[in-house]
Amino acid sequence: MGPTPTELTESDAASTAVGCPVDHHGYQPFEMDDPFDAYARLRRDEPVMYDERIGYWVVSRWADVRAVFEDWETFSSENAQAPVRQRGPAATRIMKDGGFTAYSGLSARIPPDHTRIRAIAQRAFTPRRFKALEPTIRENTRTALRAMLASADHTGDFLRDVAYDIPTVTILTLLGVDPSMVPTYKRWSDSRAAMTWGDLDDDEQVPHAHNLVEYWQECQRLVAEAHEKGGDHLIADLVEAQGAGAEITDHEIASLCYSLLFAGHETTTTLIANSVRVLLSHREAWERIVADPTAIPGAIDEVLRYSGSIVAWRRRALADAEIGGVAVPKGADILLLMGSANRDEAVFAHPDQFDITRDDARNHLSFGFGIHYCLGNMLAKLQDRIVLEETVAAVPSLRLAGTEPIRFRENLSFRVPTSVPVTWEA
Ligand code: HEM
Repeated sequence: MGPTPTELTESDAASTAVGCPVDHHGYQPFEMDDPFDAYARLRRDEPVMYDERIGYWVVSRWADVRAVFEDWETFSSENAQAPVRQRGPAATRIMKDGGFTAYSGLSARIPPDHTRIRAIAQRAFTPRRFKALEPTIRENTRTALRAMLASADHTGDFLRDVAYDIPTVTILTLLGVDPSMVPTYKRWSDSRAAMTWGDLDDDEQVPHAHNLVEYWQECQRLVAEAHEKGGDHLIADLVEAQGAGAEITDHEIASLCYSLLFAGHETTTTLIANSVRVLLSHREAWERIVADPTAIPGAIDEVLRYSGSIVAWRRRALADAEIGGVAVPKGADILLLMGSANRDEAVFAHPDQFDITRDDARNHLSFGFGIHYCLGNMLAKLQDRIVLEETVAAVPSLRLAGTEPIRFRENLSFRVPTSVPVTWEA
């Protein structure tokens, strides 16, 4: 039996207080509602901390996070897509029986494979394709806003009504997939986020395992279809490149689809939702972009710094190494807290202030850094810009509704609000 409260020694009592190593400075790996105070304590008291609850070395200062991202020879991304919680026997069997062999498109690949595939994918990610999508994104935004603004009681959920569909339709269009598949891809993507970065027990994993099998089978079918029919879309471009001698297999193309059909919308839905949420909760910033929409790009960089869609990403040490003067052993799994790095007082003045005029917001690490730097960053920012431009024009009186604080889904890496309730004047 453990000690009763009166039997606690002074050092026991001290070790249970917030700020002491035993409680990891208040850091809760899957808790996303408000991690920023814990991040600040980590930066101050233990910027490189081993967290045995997840088996990761947690890195919280900007300079250290950037240095690890940059040194890909010592710190590989091979664990970036590994399940944080081990797969249970039932989920493992479902995935094996379903022929699930998907591997990361790019983010968990390492050179030379990563270099080879990224060069081919980058050629298909042309600014021409993005530019061509702009009118459709704008039209889809106007349609979504009109539908939301038709609500009789002048209330809506910006996440559900606007942010949810737009990036998904965009990435499906880019890959030549029928946009009516949006709800299916959202279901599959939720499963992917939960299965890889969530804290699920064995039973909870089962329905998600079925979804991942369906998702992977569909990616393989899309590649087969591109071989058969061709088309004016990214998968057909990759298949064509393969035909012209580019060194990429069908399995690698299907894996890229598996990555893009998740990464290409999940994080952008969050960026759009966070942009509206954070701008509306700093009214002067909202009024500023209403008065001057050319301030929107700066505001987007500041949202990415202040409230990024991904607050933590993973690496593995390939050799004994040092991070910020702390020795980490070969094989160590490392969790880079970009959400903390972006609030590092050593880099950003008054880091907890949301300021859309700051000139160094672009130094955020929300898209990573180095050889894996996000391939879709321009597309994400383009969509957020269009949505904000259309929203301030259509409904400048928009404001947050409700008095309850907005909650965020539990996850190791993705910080996703559950809703963004809004209201407006008639
Ligand atoms: C706000 C939106 C987005 C955020 C916050 C985000 C964030 C990230 C991060 C943190 C990485 C890992 C970087 C690293 O390991 O150094 C990454 C990689 C990647 N992202 Fe994004 N992303 C976003 C949107 C997109 C979009 C729209 C696409 C595709 C259309 C995309 C495709 C990719 C790909 C393919 C990679 C892997 C790159 C590589 O390993 O070479 N992302 N992204």
